[in-house]
Amino acid sequence: MNFFIAKNLDWTPYLVDELKDTVETENIQKVKGLPLVKVEGSVENIQVGLSLCALPEAQEIEAGSIGEQADAIVSQVQDHIGNDDGINLQVFSLSEKFCVITSGRAEILRDKVHKKLKRSQYIVKRNYDPDSLAQVQAMILPNREVHLSILESEKAKASYKGVISPFAGGFTTIKDDKDAPSRAFKKIIEAQKVMNCFMQPGETVVDLGACPGGWSYVALNRGCKVIAIDRSEVREDLLYDDQLEFYKTDAFQFKTNEPIDWAISDIICMPERILELVETWVVTKLCRRFVFTIKFQGQDHYSILNEFKEKVDSLNDYEVILRQLNVNKNEVTLMGYLR
Ligand SMILES: C[S@@+](CC[C@H](N)C(=O)[O-])C[C@H]1O[C@@H](n2cnc3c(N)ncnc32)[C@H](O)[C@@H]1O
Repeated sequence: MNFFIAKNLDWTPYLVDELKDTVETENIQKVKGLPLVKVEGSVENIQVGLSLCALPEAQEIEAGSIGEQADAIVSQVQDHIGNDDGINLQVFSLSEKFCVITSGRAEILRDKVHKKLKRSQYIVKRNYDPDSLAQVQAMILPNREVHLSILESEKAKASYKGVISPFAGGFTTIKDDKDAPSRAFKKIIEAQKVMNCFMQPGETVVDLGACPGGWSYVALNRGCKVIAIDRSEVREDLLYDDQLEFYKTDAFQFKTNEPIDWAISDIICMPERILELVETWVVTKLCRRFVFTIKFQGQDHYSILNEFKEKVDSLNDYEVILRQLNVNKNEVTLMGYLR
């Protein structure tokens, strides 16, 4: 069984509709009262835009004491992965009201599992790295049954990078920064964490639709050189930064022949126009990494995600993730990096 977590109950019907485009309808089941959808059969290498995170190939662990459940989890881990694989361990409860919770029962269970794994010579890592770590996720439902997804590192890397998350249950909050020009800065931070790929000092970033400058601010703070483009000016202090070049122009007309490190776009436009950006920057391999938000008008246009998925399938040189971020409102983020 596979589980997909939606951001909240309101998003669940749209997630079900999206899944129907990829999976047989009879294999999809909404879990009543939770932002959760069950899917039977294989979901390897699929992209799901309206889900925060998936628990692929999950098995059920019956309700019981925390100690019994911890023993059952550790025994399953021992059956599935060797202790030479480092582990990323995520334990969370899912509730109707609060969605993902990592405190209370989840925290105690995680603690017990962690200690028992350590005793069995497993290394539980703090960081997330789907390229080298096994992914162990335990989701506690309100009736206390646990659903456990164990992916050894090769499998996580080869088949599920597009749907697993660095955050337990896909849920995170990015700290406020009162100096940032806008709250939108959180999107580019979360996107980098989801990709596990971060801006590095000296890299060149083209920020399309940059005003008032939240994303440029993040890139400048990482020591990058920023080319910011918008029809409106970015916040004045950013214009004085000698690492930032600003062009007041149409971002879709901006071209460069020089390969760049990052193309990032938070442009407010119809989703179809973001496909143009994919052609301009990604298909041509002009950028090594990209983050583009796809903004929807109302609730009727999510089927356009299929066009993005088709496009993603043809981008063989890039690792691509299509994901609704916690900070995304009525939008989904398309992001990727050259393999
Ligand atoms: C959501 S805001 C970007 C916020 C920004 N990422 C930040 O962190 O502050 C979207 C921006 O897209 C810009 N925009 C919309 N269409 C554009 C176009 N064709 N060319 C350039 N900028 C455009 C708008 O002027 C607006 O400033």
